[in-house]
Amino acid sequence: HEKRAELSEAITRLKKEKNAVILAHYYQRPEIQDLADYIGDSLALAQISARLTQDIIVLCGVNFMGETAKIICPGKKVLIPDLSAGCSLADSCPAPEFEKFIKQNPGHTVISYVNTSAAVKALSDVLVTSTNARQIVESFPPETPIIFGPDRNLGNYINSVTGRNMKLWNGACHVHEQFSVEKLAELKRQHPDAKVLAHPECPKQLLLLADKTGSTAALLKYAASQPFNKFIVATESGILHQMQKECPEKTFIPAPPADSTCACNECSFMKLNTLEKLYNCLLTESPEVNVDAATAERALKPIERMLQISE
Ligand code: 13P
Ligand code: SF4
Repeated sequence: HEKRAELSEAITRLKKEKNAVILAHYYQRPEIQDLADYIGDSLALAQISARLTQDIIVLCGVNFMGETAKIICPGKKVLIPDLSAGCSLADSCPAPEFEKFIKQNPGHTVISYVNTSAAVKALSDVLVTSTNARQIVESFPPETPIIFGPDRNLGNYINSVTGRNMKLWNGACHVHEQFSVEKLAELKRQHPDAKVLAHPECPKQLLLLADKTGSTAALLKYAASQPFNKFIVATESGILHQMQKECPEKTFIPAPPADSTCACNECSFMKLNTLEKLYNCLLTESPEVNVDAATAERALKPIERMLQISE
């Protein structure tokens, strides 16, 4: 605890000296969330990046979030505590294959989830996050042929709520695919008063058991604003920290993983970032996120389009 307090103090001091700002995603370790200047879902982190005045942005999240901030703020130094913090969903969609998929479906509008590499963003017409996916898809006329990638679960969910028939890339996130539908149903029976909160990256069978489906920010808002006292949470367990902080009197139960011996409802990539790495990253101003200039220029357009639609 003493070490943690010392590190936190040193980080806050360095941050001021260097005119840096710390952004953290809801899946970060609690001690990082508590230290951040801003905490949010992927959309909020992108929106906040666009308004920042500091010289250095430290993005405590995964690589695609760092890349998005760098593309939005090319003149700033963007740091990430651990550059190897990838994303299994982004990895399930390599740019050359996605390009082939686009060529096989000429005349389609390409809508991509932000959980993608900068190269995939550069191939897209507009980006979405789980907060604004429905709004952005519905901003196109109903007959518009659309390719949606890379998350098949989010794509299926958006197809079901909008009545669209978007062509889906077959990608998924390893964290959201590992929840057990049977164990969740059993937990619901044990806690009949609990509401189930689920992220749309979860498969359809699981979403059928959910009382509320939404992005991390939407689930947090629902838990805080609705008059229920108990929730089962089917998304990465880091979000429980903010839920518990905002609603200390309510009960939050993590949805059970299929394999009860592992902490599979944690995103191992998100958890690569630690206080120690955050301190070193501010001290040495590395590792830095860089996106090749031509890719960044092409990727900025669909990001800006997303930010405009979701203003
Ligand atoms: P949100 O946009 O809901 O924060 O989700 C990000 C993410 O990585 C989900 O796995
Ligand atoms: Fe990627 Fe899944 Fe981790 Fe989110 S939880 S960053 S989608 S691997």
